[in-house]
This record gives sequence, structure tokens and C-alpha cells, in this order.
Amino acid sequence: MALIRTSVALFILQICLAFGVSSSEDGAVTFDLDVSYIIASPLGVPQQVIAVNGMFPGPVINVTTNYDVTLNVHNRLNENLLMTWPGVHMRHTSWQDGVLGTNCPIQSGLNWTYNFQVKDQIGSFFYFPSLNLQRASGGFGAFIIMHRSVVNPPFRDPDGDVVVMIGDWYNRDHKALRADLDSGKVLGVPDGVLINGKGPYRYNPTLVPKGISYETINVDPGRTYRVHVHNVGISTCLNFRIQNHVLLLVETEGFYVTKRTFTSLDIHVGQSYTFLVTMDQNARSDYYIVASARFVNQSLWQRVTGVAILHYSKSKQKAAGPLPDPPNVAFDKSFVLNQALSIRQDVSANGARPNPQGSFHYGSIKVTDVYIIKTMPLVMINGKLRATLNGISFINPDTPIRLADKFRVKEAYKLDFPSRPQNRSLQMHTSIVNATYKGFVEIILVNNDTAVQSFHLDGYSFFVVGMAYGEWTPNSRSSYNKYDAIFRSTTQVFPGAWTAILVYLDNAGAWNLRAANLDRWYLGQETYMRIVNPEPDPRNKTEVPTPDNVLYCGALNYLQKPRKPSFTSTISSSNGGSKLFLLLLPVFSAFIAALL
Ligand SMILES: *[C@@H]1O[C@H](CO)[C@@H](O)[C@H](O)[C@H]1NC(C)=O
Ligand SMILES: *[C@@H]1O[C@H](CO)[C@@H](O)[C@H](O)[C@H]1NC(C)=O
Ligand SMILES: *[C@@H]1O[C@H](CO)[C@@H](O)[C@H](O)[C@H]1NC(C)=O
Ligand SMILES: *[C@@H]1O[C@H](CO)[C@@H](O)[C@H](O)[C@H]1NC(C)=O
Ligand SMILES: *[C@@H]1O[C@H](CO)[C@@H](O)[C@H](O)[C@H]1NC(C)=O
Ligand SMILES: *[C@@H]1O[C@H](CO)[C@@H](O)[C@H](O)[C@H]1NC(C)=O
Ligand SMILES: *[C@@H]1O[C@H](CO)[C@@H](O)[C@H](O)[C@H]1NC(C)=O
Repeated sequence: MALIRTSVALFILQICLAFGVSSSEDGAVTFDLDVSYIIASPLGVPQQVIAVNGMFPGPVINVTTNYDVTLNVHNRLNENLLMTWPGVHMRHTSWQDGVLGTNCPIQSGLNWTYNFQVKDQIGSFFYFPSLNLQRASGGFGAFIIMHRSVVNPPFRDPDGDVVVMIGDWYNRDHKALRADLDSGKVLGVPDGVLINGKGPYRYNPTLVPKGISYETINVDPGRTYRVHVHNVGISTCLNFRIQNHVLLLVETEGFYVTKRTFTSLDIHVGQSYTFLVTMDQNARSDYYIVASARFVNQSLWQRVTGVAILHYSKSKQKAAGPLPDPPNVAFDKSFVLNQALSIRQDVSANGARPNPQGSFHYGSIKVTDVYIIKTMPLVMINGKLRATLNGISFINPDTPIRLADKFRVKEAYKLDFPSRPQNRSLQMHTSIVNATYKGFVEIILVNNDTAVQSFHLDGYSFFVVGMAYGEWTPNSRSSYNKYDAIFRSTTQVFPGAWTAILVYLDNAGAWNLRAANLDRWYLGQETYMRIVNPEPDPRNKTEVPTPDNVLYCGALNYLQKPRKPSFTSTISSSNGGSKLFLLLLPVFSAFIAALL
């Protein structure tokens, strides 16, 4: 018996090492994220893909409210890297946000350790590499924050968790896609949609070639699963549905919603949703899980469809027949608005704390500043293809914003981002918002382009109070939801329409406001909100000091202690033995759990 115990302990140690995870009871967790290239063929064409710990998608980071999270990111790519965790609020520490306005990049061959607390948060999020279109090659994984055991969610504990990462995909890697954009070409129709890094099940022999490996989600009949769905793609909104099954929406990006059932839901780029799904259908059959392109010409975009299989444990029959249809609303523009606005906060539910989510009565707070932020179709500026916000295409600073402030670097950026669209020639520079600390601001996001877009704000959640077609006017405010608007961090803005959000700027730092659509972001559709407490703060409460391990670059490069690369970039095959070991991990864990 003693022998077994020892070997079990050894096993656990090995698993921790292999997975790079260790966790202690005081609510701290440490992950090693080893970012490298692998060769994979998700759509049947071999290509370079970005893996995390050898896996594509990367491992799930699964933590609990208030945990201290330490993430040691190792850059084995042959270019700069930063990991970002959108929607996970870095309270008072934009130093950990992992975008170029807040952090110097981790150079090839080096590692850097992020440290932050997931303070007062629950919910489903995902992480990804934020630079240079890298997300188009992978590097993403789920980031789940579980509720504390003393705070009950507004539903019964599910029987299990399922993570589903959906996203459009090209057979060209991020460097090739980047080269297209740099030479003034748009990306065009994607080659497909991946579900958990895999291509479509062969539901149609004409559309799907032989030999593509697809995702299978194994379930037991009668059980209810919590299904976390993330659109990690480049620029395509996807309609998500499971054949014959009802999706009960319970949470989005950190907040519980009033429960609503859907047969399908549009998930925009960068958005995350959690559903409860009960396996209540004929258990002798498998079912399709579908993610198909929305708001595009269906006949031209037919191949941009992801299909996975929901496999009931005793099922003998393959999923069959045509795929379930997406909503047929081509001529009903109001359907999508109504669907979006129907997603509301469950104001009486406990959130991360044991008090109701709706206890912040945002509808009665006076707005201090109004910003109208408009996006236009792509343009050429100085011979380059660019995307803009209020006529400005953003150039990343060489020196991160708050670091430049601390060392009084001159002209690292300009605090001149206009609060209204400008009637002047287009510009290209590092223009950021001079926002007011503890201001309660209204931002009207206007989409003057012809494609749907999503916008994301780091460091905050915002209330999505209104959305409509046509011009926004002050009268539009009468349509705002002032009571139970959803509180989230990524919202869609339809073409020819606006979306209004309210946000309380109580988190000091420099926070990225951007298009979640990757090509748009790469081409400059972003800015930052610089939010600084003007009062002296000797106790470092409004903003923590720069971390000890801060990286220096740009004008502050001279402060950076030289670091020797500890490894070089490598490319390995995705079918290595280590992959097999990782695949078997759940089996080992179950085995150990049974023994202990
Ligand atoms: C790099 O990783 C090593 C361990 O793998 C760690 O000791 C070191 O602190 C890390 N460096 C940084 C800058 O995070
Ligand atoms: C996260 O961990 C909890 C246990 O703390 C587990 O119940 C849950 O299924 C895990 N979620 C995922 C997505 O792995
Ligand atoms: C979709 O594309 C096809 C093929 O180019 C074209 O014939 C059709 O008119 C388009 N449909 C719409 C609604 O634009
Ligand atoms: C924009 O500026 C041009 C001249 O620079 C002027 O002719 C035009 O009327 C202005 N448009 C608006 C909407 O102010
Ligand atoms: C930023 O705003 C503050 C007031 O909120 C003002 O005092 C300051 O001059 C502004 N800075 C710039 C560069 O406009
Ligand atoms: C863009 O703005 C112009 C001028 O306000 C307007 O005429 C046009 O309809 C808008 N287009 C879209 C797609 O919003
Ligand atoms: C606040 O941060 C500064 C460094 O920026 C440090 O010198 C000082 O000791 C900190 N004060 C407290 C109370 O932690």
C-alpha cells in the first residue's frame, strides 16, 4: 500500500510538471505557458500552428474567484510575444494586461511571468497572443473563473464542463496573412471554421474532403453540461447550435444572465457564452454541433462551417441528415438587434460576491463624458491599407504608456484622441483618450462599414444599454435599458448601426479599446484610455507600482538588464509522444482520484 501511495504521489508530481500546474490551498495557482510552433493540418493542409504546452488549443486555465494567478509565459516563437486575458480584470494593474500599450514584448527565446489576482470575478473568458495577428495561427485557450463554493450560482451544479472554441480559419499562417494585409490585400473568405482546433466532420462528401480529423464531445444521456463557447476567430461572426438540443444561456463574459433558451445564438468575434445543455434526446444517436458563418453570402461561404460531433456514450448511430438550419432572418434586420438586447443581466443573482449583481444602479448615475467613436471602411493612408477610429489609425507606442509616464518619456503618445468623429484628413499616430478617473462615461460605437464588428475594452466590463440602426442622436437615449442591461466586455456593432455602452472608470491604468476583429485591430483600429488618479496616492491603492520584473523597451531600453535566450524556437510535429501523454492525463487523474 505504501508503495502504491508513493507512486501515486510521484504520478501527481509528474502531472504537475508536465502540465506546468501547481496549486495550493490559499487560492494561488501557477501555470507555465510554453508557446511554440507545431505542424498541424486542421483543414487537411499542413501548416505552422501556435501551440501552448504542445497543445492546440492551449490548456484550460481554470481558477476560482480571488485566486492569485501566476503565469510564466515562455516564448519559443521566432518573433515577439505577449499573452492577453481579455475580460479578466487586472484590478489597478494594467502592467499585466499583455498588449503593446501596457507591456514591452517578450522577445523570442525569453520568458516573462505575469501575476494578477482574479478579484471579484466569475465567468468564461479566453487567452491568446496579442501581437502581429498571431491568434490567426492559434495560441489560444480557455480561461475559466469558477465561483467560490460559498457563493451559489443561479442554477444547479452541472454534471460536467465542456469547452468549445470556435473560429474562422485560413490554411495560410499569421505571417502569410500579415503579408497580405501589409501589401494592401484584404484577407478574403476563410478556408473553414475550426472547433477545438479541428476541422469539420464529413457531413457532406462534396464540401468536406476525406481524412480531416474532427472534434467529438462525449456525453452521457440524461446529464446536464455547462458548455463554454468562445469565438476565438479572426473576423467571422458564427451561429452556434447543437442539433435537436436546447441551449439554456446562463452567463456571458463574467455575468449571469436572466435564463433564456435558444436553438442557436450568434457569437461574435471575441465573445464568450456559457450554456447549460441537457442530454435529453434519443441516446442511440449522435448529433451535430455547428458553428456557421453569419451575415455573409451563404452560397459563397458554405465551406466556412464548423461541424463537431456530440456523442452519447452508448450511441451506435452516426449523426445524419442535413445540418440544422441557422435562423432564417436574411430579411429581418431587427431580429439580430432584438436577440442581442434580449440578453440581460440577472440582477438578483449572486455574482462573484454573495450580493446581487444588480446592486450597482447604473441607470441613475449621471454621465460625465460622452464619446462617439466611429469606424469606417478600410482606407489607404500614405499608401498603406489601414483601419481607423474617428479618422485615426493607431500606431503602437515604442514605450508602453504608463511606463513612459513613470519615467517622463516625452512624446511617447498624444492625449488627443477626439471625443467625436472629425471632419479632417486621416491620421496615423499614437493617439489615446485622456479619460477621467472615476468618470461615468457613455461611449457610442458607430459602425459606418458594411460588415458587423465587435469592440472590446480591457480592464472593464460595460453596460450594453442600446443598439439600433441609423444615426445616433441624443434622443436615442430614451431607448436605453437603464435597469438590467448586460454587463460585459465585448459587444457587437452592426453595419449602419450604433451600440451604446456605459462604463465607470474606476480602474486606473492604460486600457486598450479595440476591434476584436483581428485584421481590423492589426490595421490600427484601436486606442487606449489613459485613466489616472490625479490625487496623491502614497499607498499605491489606485494603481500598483511597476512590478519588479517589468520589461523595458523603446526609450527605456537602456534600463533593461541583458537577458540571454534560454531556448530557441522549435517546430515539432503535433503527434509526438508528449501529446499522447497529455491526452491520457484525464485518465490518469481519474485513476488517482479513485485511489485517494
Ligand atoms: C523565467 O522562467 C524561470 C523558470 O522557468 C523563472 O525562474 C524566471 O523567473 C522566469 N523569468 C521571468 C522574467 O519571468
Ligand atoms: C474547473 O474546475 C472545477 C473544479 O474546481 C471543475 O468542477 C470544472 O469542471 C472545471 N472546469 C473546466 C472547464 O475544466
Ligand atoms: C451570393 O453569391 C452568389 C454567387 O456569386 C450570387 O449569385 C448571389 O446573388 C449572391 N447572393 C446575395 C444575396 O448576394
Ligand atoms: C467637412 O469639411 C469640408 C471642408 O474641409 C466641408 O466642405 C464640409 O462641409 C465639412 N463637412 C461637415 C459635415 O462638416
Ligand atoms: C486631460 O484631462 C485633464 C482633466 O480631466 C486636464 O486637466 C488635462 O489638461 C488634460 N490633458 C491633456 C493633455 O489634454
Ligand atoms: C455612413 O455614413 C454616411 C454619412 O453619414 C451615410 O450616408 C451612410 O449611410 C453610412 N453607411 C453605413 C453603412 O452606415
Ligand atoms: C508605493 O510604490 C513605490 C514605488 O513606486 C514604493 O517606493 C513605495 O514604497 C510604495 N508604497 C507603499 C505604501 O507600498
